[in-house]
Amino acid sequence: MSAKIQAIRGMNDVLPAQSHIWQDLESTIRNLFAQYGYSEIRFPIVETTGLFVRSLGEITDIVEKEMYTFIDSLNGDSLTLRPEGTASTLRAALEHNLLYDGPQRLWYSGPMFRHEKPQRGRYRQFHQFGLEALGFPGPDVDAEQIILTARLWRKLGLDGVELQINSLGDSATRANHRDTLIEYFSTHQDKLGLDEQRRLHTNPLRILDSKNPALREVIATAPTLLDNLDAESQAHFAVLQSLLRAAGISYTINPRLVRGLDYYNRTVFEWVTTKLGSQGTICAGGRYDGLIEQLGGKPAPGCGFALGVERLIELMKECGSASVASAPDAYFAYQGEGTTEAAAVAAEAMRDAGLQVVLHAGGGGFKAQMKRADASTARYAVILGEDELKQQKFALKPLRGQGDQSILGLMQVIESIKQGNIHGRL
Ligand code: HAM
Repeated sequence: MSAKIQAIRGMNDVLPAQSHIWQDLESTIRNLFAQYGYSEIRFPIVETTGLFVRSLGEITDIVEKEMYTFIDSLNGDSLTLRPEGTASTLRAALEHNLLYDGPQRLWYSGPMFRHEKPQRGRYRQFHQFGLEALGFPGPDVDAEQIILTARLWRKLGLDGVELQINSLGDSATRANHRDTLIEYFSTHQDKLGLDEQRRLHTNPLRILDSKNPALREVIATAPTLLDNLDAESQAHFAVLQSLLRAAGISYTINPRLVRGLDYYNRTVFEWVTTKLGSQGTICAGGRYDGLIEQLGGKPAPGCGFALGVERLIELMKECGSASVASAPDAYFAYQGEGTTEAAAVAAEAMRDAGLQVVLHAGGGGFKAQMKRADASTARYAVILGEDELKQQKFALKPLRGQGDQSILGLMQVIESIKQGNIHGRL
């Protein structure tokens, strides 16, 4: 036998026993986004590398070491598998002048790619749903997005998800804060690891995110942006908080929350849980008021977030709220002269009536077919043998719970299954 080919590390299959959870979650999210007036945008999985370098920032983990970048051997272009969706959303919005028609509420979903070290909740191909509101300057839209996510957690039956918020201020605040941080961390040079040394002058904000235990105390007493916010950002943050309070959403202000991408300013937020181990952020985002201009558009503010589908599903399982696979209504078994055609026709009529019917395929006797019927988890078996065919009748046999087999015409079969559905639901 030749060796089996395996999937790439950190890139997962979603098997049939799980795919219904994905489908249910996806449709819940789609409906929710529509309820808040967001429209879907779809963009390619591959973009020119420069788009991400320019948007996310050169000195970020993603751009420095996590992007799947390759040269298109046919024309020499440098291309990258999208590591996130904000950059592509803005590229597409600018390319198609969407902002010409006024502010835009957009959403997207699909696979993203980051060459990270795989572990529980962290994959190299993972899936996001994201929202981006373009052209809205005020904190009302920041609050709208947070309120929307809170509703989603309720709908999904999640508990124990905590909201953390922070404000990064405007670019002047951040420039001042940067200088203060460089000064501050320079006085603790001896504790800085190699990564932090390198970041000291390029991106000192990221040192605040460091997991280096030697730095824990130094980080805890580092000067925060919040202490030095510009007046407008302060007002923006205050209104956001009053909107959240009015909506009954509790939050924690985390002055250390800086996010791993360069494009943020003012509001940043994360929804975190302790139930998933170290990868506990299920949703994260914030404001990026300078990014549209940075990508060549007319200045316009933006705010958005993305949630990680794998982490959300994992959390739904932890909370016992992941959906159960829906069983087919009936498994259709048949055997004998003329039954193949009659069964196919009857199964189609049942589907016309809205039922889910698995029609046996592959031949074999009734015994083997009934085994398959059981394994299919269907609630009924519909059985057609030569005797039934002569009478134009079918045997209907409940496969779960009580009830006897009955011999019925097709319409009665359909009605009985539908009645059973109603009782089953009660
Ligand atoms: P992010 O924080 O890089 O932000 O990712 C958002 C979410 O995607 C994370 O909170 C996590 O749930 C999920 N995620 C990220 N990386 C992985 C991974 N390797 N494996 C599994 N899940 C992962 C962004 O991507 C921004 N574009 C969000 C945003 C939109 N900000 C403004 N608009």
